[in-house]
Amino acid sequence: MEGSGLKGHLREGLRFLEEAREFKESFEARLSPLRELSPSKPFTYLSVGGGELGDLVVSAAKRLLGGPKGGIRTVVFDRYDGCPAQDVADSFEGFDMMKGDLLEARVRKYIPNPSESHAIYLEIEKIDTRRMCELGIRYGYRVMSTPYGPLICMDRHLTKLMFDELKVPRLEWAYAESQREIELIAEGFGLPVIVKPIMTSSGHGTSIVRTQEDLKKAYRYALEHARGIGDRVIVERFLEDLKTKGTEITQFVVRHFDDEGEIITSVLPPVEHRRPGATYHESWMPSTISRKAIERCQESAKKIAELIGGLGLYAVEQFVIGDEVYNNEVANRPHDTGMVTRWTLNADEGAIQLLSTIGLQVTPFDISPSRPNVFGVAHVILAPDFEGESEGGAERAVLGWMAKDVKDFMARKGYSGDVWYFGKPTAYPHRRMGLAVAFHEKLEEARREAEEIAHYAEGKIIYS
Ligand SMILES: Nc1ncnc2c1ncn2[C@@H]1O[C@H](COP(=O)(O)OP(=O)(O)OP(=O)(O)O)[C@@H](O)[C@H]1O
Ligand SMILES: [Mg+2]
Repeated sequence: MEGSGLKGHLREGLRFLEEAREFKESFEARLSPLRELSPSKPFTYLSVGGGELGDLVVSAAKRLLGGPKGGIRTVVFDRYDGCPAQDVADSFEGFDMMKGDLLEARVRKYIPNPSESHAIYLEIEKIDTRRMCELGIRYGYRVMSTPYGPLICMDRHLTKLMFDELKVPRLEWAYAESQREIELIAEGFGLPVIVKPIMTSSGHGTSIVRTQEDLKKAYRYALEHARGIGDRVIVERFLEDLKTKGTEITQFVVRHFDDEGEIITSVLPPVEHRRPGATYHESWMPSTISRKAIERCQESAKKIAELIGGLGLYAVEQFVIGDEVYNNEVANRPHDTGMVTRWTLNADEGAIQLLSTIGLQVTPFDISPSRPNVFGVAHVILAPDFEGESEGGAERAVLGWMAKDVKDFMARKGYSGDVWYFGKPTAYPHRRMGLAVAFHEKLEEARREAEEIAHYAEGKIIYS
């Protein structure tokens, strides 16, 4: 019985990928290059999610295109008032985006007619993604990169099936929906393995299994922490050498119109990153991986983006050891590790997402390094743990930050660096509050300085 269940999911998954591929053709046929922006009939750009990655995209509509007077009006949705992108958007709605009816009604309020010029960027996964994608598939809303994209990218099973269809390298994996199945797979792979719910982010519900004892707890743990379809997990071989001998890459590629009006895929230089825990911690450009590894990273990312198609950025997470590359996850949108592009590329990931998804060309210059001779490192500025208060504990109001002290510190130290303060109104333990950046010819020095600036800035945010 177990076998037929598994085969059923496999068949279902493959059918879904096929459907996505067919839909891509018709979706792309309806897209056209943007010729003119005019304030009398503005283009509507909707960011569903208004965090720092929404801010980067929405603010590009002002910085580069002049906002509503330039012919593009921006709308941001988020669950809370005071999100980073709210004050740069022309309109804002705060509501529970997990509620599909509310979400659909708000989309229709700003884009009543899906044939009007518009683009929708899903900044986060904690929304009713299914409903958003349905709006694209059934009614022609331009959910970028394609309405199927987010559904594939948020589902580890579909993502892995896609890797296998494309024959891009990945770690051995298997699908399971019971404790027994996990144990059988682990026996086959050998320990350690890592068990991940089909749908999660930031490591929720994920466990690294090194012993038989851990193995017994893995399934229950995944069920308790998973979002959405909680009874299905992916078991992967755990790459023990990754932290010691390897490194992590986010390989960006962008689908955009060229000057002939064709949609093409352009490849960005890889972003390298390290994470001591489950979430984003520091990233940099240029990467230090071998030429061969870069080629492999880019080749995989390009294939993936071309399978899903549409317009916009794709961020492919990859593990690299020597010349070996393993594809891990895909996001069809900007990525937190890519925030460093604000300082390392001529156009940052927000601008690239904006330009490509509205139908403009992204030029080779846009995606070229802006400071090719130094390493640029971004390091997260986090809220403290508030003296041991548990994760998800009480929120604290943010009363302000000592901006002058931070600037003075960088000047006094003689650091070439920068700080991006997000301006979030409240904080919970370890919430991302900003980003510190440093440049140096030596990577280790740039990493050290970025970390030092980040830690200094962390002490300069005032909480209630
Ligand atoms: N099979 C593996 N072998 C070694 N390390 C792994 C493996 N899978 C995941 N990791 C480590 O855990 C991190 C998070 O894994 P993954 O990206 O799959 O989960 P996630 O919950 O989606 O995280 P995020 O939302 O932050 O991307 C990876 O970046 C990597 O450092
Ligand atoms: Mg990941």
